[in-house]
Amino acid sequence: MTAFSHLFQPIRIGTMIAKNRLLMSAMSINFGVNEKGHVADQLIQYLAARARGGVGMMLVGGGGIHPSGVELPHLPALWEDDCIPALKRLADTIRPFDCRLGMQVMHGGRQSYHDQKVAPSAIPAPAVVRGVPRALIQEEIHMLADAFGQAAGRCRAAGFDFIEIHGAHGYLINQFLAPNSNQRTDIYGGSFENRIRFLLEVMAAIRKHCGPDFPVGVRINAEDYIDNGWTLPEALRLAPILVENGAAYLHVSAGVYGSRQLTIPSMYVPQGCFVDLAAAVKAKVSVPVVAVGRIKSPRLAEQIIAEEKADMVALGRSLLADPWWPAKADAGAVRRIRPCIGCCLGCIHTVLRLEPGGCVVNPDVGREYLLKSLTPAATPRRVLVAGAGPAGLAAARMLALRGHRVVVCDQDAAPGGALRLAALPPGRSDLAELIAYFVDQLERLAVPLRLNTALDEVLLDEVAPQLVVLATGSLPEMPLIKGLYRTQMQLCTVTEVLSGQSDPGHRVIVWGGNQAALVLADYLAERGREVTVLHPGRHFGEEMSSNDRFYLRERLKNGGVTLYKQVVVESFLADGVRFAGEMGDVLLAAFDTVVLADNFAPLREAANLLKARGLPSHFIGDAKAPRHLMYAVAEGEELGREL
Ligand SMILES: Cc1cc2nc3c(=O)[nH]c(=O)nc-3n(C[C@H](O)[C@H](O)[C@H](O)COP(=O)(O)O)c2cc1C
Ligand code: SF4
Repeated sequence: MTAFSHLFQPIRIGTMIAKNRLLMSAMSINFGVNEKGHVADQLIQYLAARARGGVGMMLVGGGGIHPSGVELPHLPALWEDDCIPALKRLADTIRPFDCRLGMQVMHGGRQSYHDQKVAPSAIPAPAVVRGVPRALIQEEIHMLADAFGQAAGRCRAAGFDFIEIHGAHGYLINQFLAPNSNQRTDIYGGSFENRIRFLLEVMAAIRKHCGPDFPVGVRINAEDYIDNGWTLPEALRLAPILVENGAAYLHVSAGVYGSRQLTIPSMYVPQGCFVDLAAAVKAKVSVPVVAVGRIKSPRLAEQIIAEEKADMVALGRSLLADPWWPAKADAGAVRRIRPCIGCCLGCIHTVLRLEPGGCVVNPDVGREYLLKSLTPAATPRRVLVAGAGPAGLAAARMLALRGHRVVVCDQDAAPGGALRLAALPPGRSDLAELIAYFVDQLERLAVPLRLNTALDEVLLDEVAPQLVVLATGSLPEMPLIKGLYRTQMQLCTVTEVLSGQSDPGHRVIVWGGNQAALVLADYLAERGREVTVLHPGRHFGEEMSSNDRFYLRERLKNGGVTLYKQVVVESFLADGVRFAGEMGDVLLAAFDTVVLADNFAPLREAANLLKARGLPSHFIGDAKAPRHLMYAVAEGEELGREL
């Protein structure tokens, strides 16, 4: 008996039946193909892990139909027949898991990563990629439509179950659909009928190469969220036409590069952000409709299906974070799902930098083919983990899974370390879900979590560990800046403010321009404070993903936060500061508080205690070197695997 009866109902899609309503959406993960773009073991095992986890349908992302439209350097290339044997190996690997395997076929158009881009018109993409594309001539348009068909045919020959046409997100097909990227004056531009022509030709070519019974879905944008872009009324007009032309399902997404709402939204955006768009499309068609967009909780997914807003739910990043999401949801074990925190850092931010995709909360992504299954520790030991931040929690879990006897201590009254504080500013509460996940895991593994407990002689005597893991975190550094320690303004740190130890006055200077400083500025602005951020560096929030930073910058703007970068302080004054900035010399006066949030220093004092006792120890996370969350989780898990 499943906990979510609607979600785990089978569904018919054309001639195909999927065992549940969950589709792993296409993600161009930018790893796992060889130099010819043929699928390799790394991609196969990454996908197999997700199929094993119970998803009913899955899409391979970024299937390139032609070299001119390659979105990223390491994606499947489908334009030659010699790609088929590797695709077959993938299909054969997935088949035993009763997961319907699909390929998303795409052409990047002006959003391709290379510099020989083609597009409907010679208009550059508004963001992310640079370069003016060359406008396609009609022969090339016909050739590309057929290339879609041939690529799909190769996937069918390899044993794939279905195809999804990527008609969304500002790639080539979407570029034909949207007036801002299509200013052609021939039969492919101008009127609605002309702009949808290329997509219909692609569908016809796929039917020609795959046969009429092969399930072909189409991913469309219901909104581009950009000036003169593709809009909902046009999407609603298009939807029934796609069905008439043989679409077996419609997958409703939104956004293009540079849009006002992002296709891959960060934690600031409500869960299920595009569901209403899917519901609007569903009202127009009889084939299954898929909803997508920060659908993280099984309860929300169930509700979407139960309320008939969509027939299926697509999970992208939730399946990066936890491949077992479907099986855990099916078993009602919702708290056991490792949550995607919507940081966008390990996944989309990394692939758009042309690096292999990963996940901040799940270091296994892309390493599935290398990882051996967990083996019990050869010599189980008593391990004390000092620090219940993400590094300590991740290490403790992994050590306990391997049979070590683990105790976790933390001098704070609640677990989570710096992450608990980072979750307090507006829109950042997803971060707390990761702490809750780890704490739940430790409870299940019966690992004692001793809060309000410092690492000292008494504790060491009592626990008598054979090994200590130091995950003691970091604290803001006190910088040496002229006048800072003579000012009459209140001086405190980001940690003190967020933990409630300090209450800044009304007019606040935040020193630093990193993520901690910016989310603090937002936190204070929301509480009605007048906030000015002084950043000695060149770029704000450099360690954040651009998607996450995008929403935060909007909030700071709306909250009236003033930002200065490249600040060189001449001196802090009694109630302000004099500095040289990008725009020249500035004098700020009548401030109440300076909050320090620039650099962080590791907390490593406990090492001396352990040395005196001859106890072996390992530093992980910020205690090793202050960095972002990905390192904390990865180092914790890695150590847990090794010991
Ligand atoms: C790393 C990454 C790559 C993506 N690549 C594609 C892609 O190739 N095709 C596509 O249609 N969507 C792509 N997407 C978008 C996802 O399919 C999905 O629409 C989006 O992540 C929102 O869903 P989620 O909140 O469940 O992740 C990508 C997303 C990520 C994170
Ligand atoms: S990197 Fe962040 S946004 Fe991307 S899947 Fe992992 S947790 Fe989610």
